[in-house]
Amino acid sequence: MIFVTGGAGFIGSNFVLDWLAGSDEPVLNFDKLTYAGNLNNLASLKDDARHVFVRGDICDGEQVLALLREHRPRAIVHFAAESHVDRSIHGPAEFINTNINGTFALLEAARAYWTALPDAEKEAFRFLHVSTDEVYGTLGATDPAFTETTAFAPNSPYSASKAASDHLVRSYHHTYGFPTLTTNCSNNYGPYHFPEKLIPLIIANAQAGKPLPIYGDGQQIRDWLYVSDHCAAIRRVLADGRLGETYNVGGWNEMANLDVVHTLCDILDSLKPKATGSYRDQITYVKDRPGHDRRYAIDARKLERELGWKPAETFETGIRKTVQWYLDNAAWVADVQSGAYAKWVETNYFNRDSSQAEAS
Ligand SMILES: NC(=O)c1ccc[n+]([C@@H]2O[C@H](COP(=O)([O-])OP(=O)(O)OC[C@H]3O[C@@H](n4cnc5c(N)ncnc54)[C@H](O)[C@@H]3O)[C@@H](O)[C@H]2O)c1
Repeated sequence: MIFVTGGAGFIGSNFVLDWLAGSDEPVLNFDKLTYAGNLNNLASLKDDARHVFVRGDICDGEQVLALLREHRPRAIVHFAAESHVDRSIHGPAEFINTNINGTFALLEAARAYWTALPDAEKEAFRFLHVSTDEVYGTLGATDPAFTETTAFAPNSPYSASKAASDHLVRSYHHTYGFPTLTTNCSNNYGPYHFPEKLIPLIIANAQAGKPLPIYGDGQQIRDWLYVSDHCAAIRRVLADGRLGETYNVGGWNEMANLDVVHTLCDILDSLKPKATGSYRDQITYVKDRPGHDRRYAIDARKLERELGWKPAETFETGIRKTVQWYLDNAAWVADVQSGAYAKWVETNYFNRDSSQAEAS
């Protein structure tokens, strides 16, 4: 089996769903269920014995080590993190704790487990660390895109904490020969994206008749990748990536935030027209985020050259699917916005007498 951390979050849950759609290899999904973790994302796996969910904190190395010894995974795919830049500005401590201390505790537990494995299993074992392009900092309008050798220059507590975790992972390979792989990916979008992030927030606010907030002038440029393309890239790197290497993952899709919002408004205008006017009329400019990076761009040629990965979706196809998904899954969005998903988790899942581990 594989051991996935943070598999109830946005990308992690897409990864678990895609993994089990293409393979019968079981997944142990280890997640703390912070505000960002939502087991409703995995409702389709409710009676599927291939999915074992355990609630826990990656900072708890003893729990992780006990689970590794019990379930003997052949790989760890590490998504768990505090991930929202704005939250890291208001409260960085949790980012330092989970992203740095938690990754350290996880690495220590994983190394202890790996060291004791028989030779063949030790040889085959992989630790894949999922990271972000934000570790590279920001680009000027004409700078070349980030490559795997671009120097780290993180600008927010979030990206600094991710950069620190990337360095720890790198050091475990160089120091202990621990079999690591790291991916640095650009902005993802798609189903199950928590509605505090730009794309789901705009889709939700547009339909609710609320303002569509644009930070500053809206000219911050991001490279956007459809989440299932990211999941496919992770599977490729896990299968055939070179040990100790990092791989950039991106969609070759640079867009200004304002253009993304215009695109969303236009798709909504065609799929769910307002009685009068356009959703664009709801756009409102708000004060920019402090230290807001101007431009990210990812050069993903190494992953294509070495492992043959390319995104399957263009922004046009991916964003249309995404808007349609949010229109079809209004109940999921409403549950997240009302907080009902968290209550459901507490009452149906954790106020039980039985052990924490069960298929979900
Ligand atoms: N969202 C993006 O666009 C993007 C892009 C590149 C890389 N990444 C990286 O991918 C990973 C997943 O991102 P996401 O957007 O799905 O994040 P998310 O915030 O949606 O999900 C994070 C998950 O981790 C869990 N978690 C948090 N702290 C934990 C802890 N201490 N122990 C165990 N579980 C914990 C949460 O409950 C949640 O389920 C992160 O490492 C992030 O840095 C995200």
